[in-house]
Amino acid sequence: MEKLVITGGNSLNGKVDISGAKNAAVAILPAAIIAATGLCIIDNIPDIDDVHCIERIIENLGCKVKVSANSVIIDSSSLNSYNANTEDVRKMRASYYLIGALLARFKKARVEMPGGCAIGVRPIDQHIKGFEALGAKVTIEHGSVFVEAEKLIGTNIFFDVVSVGATINVMLAATLAEGTTVLENAAKEPHVVDVANFLNSMGANIKGAGTDIIRITGVEELTGCSYSVIPDQIEAGTYMIAAAACGGEVTINNVIPKHLESISAKLIEMGVEIFENGDSVTVKSNKNLKGVNVKTLPYPGFPTDVQQPMSTLLCISEGRSLINESIWESRFKHIDELKKMGANVKLEGRTAIIDGVDRLTGAIVKATDLRAGAAMIIAGLVAEGNTEVLDIEHIDRGYPHIENKFNALGAHITRVSIK
Ligand code: EPZ
Repeated sequence: MEKLVITGGNSLNGKVDISGAKNAAVAILPAAIIAATGLCIIDNIPDIDDVHCIERIIENLGCKVKVSANSVIIDSSSLNSYNANTEDVRKMRASYYLIGALLARFKKARVEMPGGCAIGVRPIDQHIKGFEALGAKVTIEHGSVFVEAEKLIGTNIFFDVVSVGATINVMLAATLAEGTTVLENAAKEPHVVDVANFLNSMGANIKGAGTDIIRITGVEELTGCSYSVIPDQIEAGTYMIAAAACGGEVTINNVIPKHLESISAKLIEMGVEIFENGDSVTVKSNKNLKGVNVKTLPYPGFPTDVQQPMSTLLCISEGRSLINESIWESRFKHIDELKKMGANVKLEGRTAIIDGVDRLTGAIVKATDLRAGAAMIIAGLVAEGNTEVLDIEHIDRGYPHIENKFNALGAHITRVSIK
């Protein structure tokens, strides 16, 4: 086990390169198994535990997976199992994409119920509704989802809630279905568009991704392709917020500024200066920031995955801020940890009422989930004295080389083994 020890108080200055998007990569890798022929050569893959986990899972199903630096080559012609039931499958949320992908490839899938961050009830009813609408029979038995269809036939599906996972999963299943599938009330997140673009590069016929109506016309087969994953909107947002909190001037490279608009708009409202330049944004902060209200929403609204880092920033901003978390009902577990460092926050249901304090002080805290971990690192960076962040396996699931990236900006973070 390891922990991060952070000495707070330094400003952040310089440049940081953003990696490929986790939530795109963990869907694109399962999507690659639909290709019965040809190689998928995928670039800009982030070096994170969730990606390594998915790589092991698809290798275990019979694919040949060759990883080098930030790319991966997948040969799915040897895929020979529709049973995904290893410890890795149980561990991560995105393993549910194997259901849609295996259903497309074999008309059959058995996948253990997915795990992931404990941020609230994480139902898959909308995924199941979509598979059933396409003609599959879905049963949940012995902790696994079993899905089977004689054939999949395109149809209209109206999602009851906007769900990233259900949109992508049903899109995967529909790629080889007969006729046209229309997904209404679809999620519009950048990673939904990225998965659609990847599938189209493999020969799929998907139109409308990025709007709330996606049309998928089934094709005979998908084949390998070359593709590069989009930059990670959430990793970029995390570094923007860290720069705002610590003060200084940080240029965040390899981003799509359009994907960051809701985050930039909030930071500007607080008094941060932001300059866009092609595929980079520069964040300049003098740390004298005022509190704001934030409501998390599906894209293009303020992302729930940036809410926790943002709450740290609001803890040290002037006046009262309110955060309304509209996507996940238990995404405030980090607040108790922030309170150990002197934050003044009250929780009322899905709302956090934050009264800004002049300073946070170092403490021993936990990363209760992935983005909570990022929130605690930012807290440690601004706090007086030393902070120890425990349970950092959550952070390693989604942030590549986080201490190296921060240290290159002037932070002081050390990774220490715990015996
Ligand atoms: C994805 O989770 C992301 N994970 C999450 O990021 C992110 O918080 C979330 O989308 C929202 O943007 C991955 O992409 C692997 P949803 P997902 O289905 O797909 C409800 C991170 O930090 N819902 O869009 O599981 C659900 O309860 C992670 O990187 C249903 O009711 O989220 C939630 O309230 C954490 N029925 C809302 O929809 C369903 O069948 C949105 O969930 C599915 C979802």
